[in-house]
Amino acid sequence: MKKIVLNPSILSADFGKLNEQLQEAKGADGFHVDIMDGHFVKNISFGPLVIRSMKTRRPLDVHLMITRPERYLKDYATPRVRTIIVHEEACADAAGTLKKIKRLGKRAGLAISPDTDVESLYPYLKLLDFVLIMTVHPGFGGQKLIRRCLKKVSKLRKKAPLIDIGVDGGINKSNIHEAVASGANVITAGSAIFKSRDIPKAIRDLRKCLEFKC
Ligand code: DX5
Ligand code: ZN
Repeated sequence: MKKIVLNPSILSADFGKLNEQLQEAKGADGFHVDIMDGHFVKNISFGPLVIRSMKTRRPLDVHLMITRPERYLKDYATPRVRTIIVHEEACADAAGTLKKIKRLGKRAGLAISPDTDVESLYPYLKLLDFVLIMTVHPGFGGQKLIRRCLKKVSKLRKKAPLIDIGVDGGINKSNIHEAVASGANVITAGSAIFKSRDIPKAIRDLRKCLEFKC
């Protein structure tokens, strides 16, 4: 089985003390960074300046929920960023965008929202290092997991046994094992970690619940 990577999503962090919270998040493999433009999704989050101010040695996966992301890729290709994830629904030319990410020296990721079929990823599999299956409608943290999206994870895992598959949205102690059992190996969790009073404990608890129902 692939190593399970746990990436807290900073969207639910306290931005008044973001760097402290990053330090507190011991046990995180990396961080998931949500960029929202108020167009592809309703919400607006933050941009590359915040990413540059993040003090962490851990790798960052940047989830671009923005229309025509190809216009902004360079801004997000900073040294700490490992993966740039764009939405299939937001790209005019997804293949061209993924190639551009690779040319910037980053891992290329493609995300799909809950209403997009998993088959829409298939033409791009050879270009992809990472697939992000959204398990909530993108735009906000703290939503409930949409279980039917996990079926897409299982289907994709059968088709592409080696690819990194991430899930994003609504993951907590009670369902993380289902996500992993479906075939996801990269787990994003925002509120389950940063809304907790004890961040390192929340991470430890999630890891404990990976294999068994909690
Ligand atoms: C939703 C974001 C998610 C979000 C996850 O649009 O892409 O990364 O931060 O937050 P939780 O874990 O609270 O659903
Ligand atoms: Zn995200």
